[in-house]
Amino acid sequence: MNFIPGGSKAKRFAFELLSIIEWNDYGIKEVRKTMRYAVVSDVHANLEAFEAVLEQIDRIEVDKIVSLGDLVGYNANPNECVKIVVERDIPTLMGNHDAAASGLEDPVDFNPIAKDAILWTREVLQGEYREFLSRQPEQRSLSGSVRLVHGSMLDRDHYLQTQYDFLENVRRMQEEKPQVRVLFYGHTHSQMALSCRDEALSVVRSPRFRLEEENLYLINPGSVGQPRDRDPRTSFLLYDDESDTVEFIRIPYNIAACARKILSAGLPRELADRLSQGW
Ligand SMILES: [Fe+2]
Repeated sequence: MNFIPGGSKAKRFAFELLSIIEWNDYGIKEVRKTMRYAVVSDVHANLEAFEAVLEQIDRIEVDKIVSLGDLVGYNANPNECVKIVVERDIPTLMGNHDAAASGLEDPVDFNPIAKDAILWTREVLQGEYREFLSRQPEQRSLSGSVRLVHGSMLDRDHYLQTQYDFLENVRRMQEEKPQVRVLFYGHTHSQMALSCRDEALSVVRSPRFRLEEENLYLINPGSVGQPRDRDPRTSFLLYDDESDTVEFIRIPYNIAACARKILSAGLPRELADRLSQGW
């Protein structure tokens, strides 16, 4: 018996419509269209790197930019970087530096240099941006099958680094969000893609790759403002949900200008020196 008047054509249309409707973060069903995203993370108040990344993104003409958190800390332009995120309406997450800079938490687990920088950031951060950082979520959905976190599914401050960490995170994904097949995460500042099938992990070596239907993926775009994978170039990624492809991008930026600002702000010299070494 046809439950939709009009027979099989109408049923097929209804089925196709349902297949592109998803729940968004606010519990409202919305019709999804295919999108090209730029995923950025760990901007860390590095205006020179952020502007270089945005210039490239604007040339590529993506549909949406999303951030995985830690907009501030370490570098010297917190207000300018948060202002860009607010003005361009870029969804972001609360990173550990955002929580500490906005006064929600004290930087108790920070190393002395990171702590100096966060205390300086607290002093210079304008009230409206402090308030903005303080109300960001720790996770978001990009779509039903794609999740955004700062550290991992387990915890905002959890570093995904070892095989144990990755597998523990995959299990949490399967238990709590079985529909999720791609997790974009930040926090480690290292560009990385891992695929997982039947609890077997493998590193994806190619800078551009297609997501396979049967696999789960854990993907870090690297850090815009303080890369730590020995490549000092700024880092982000593109994700196209129509072709189901991910592409890592690295571009040079004016490291010397950023380092000069760190020194003239009176921030620790190590923060300026490390940028050119990519760690
Ligand atoms: Fe960070």
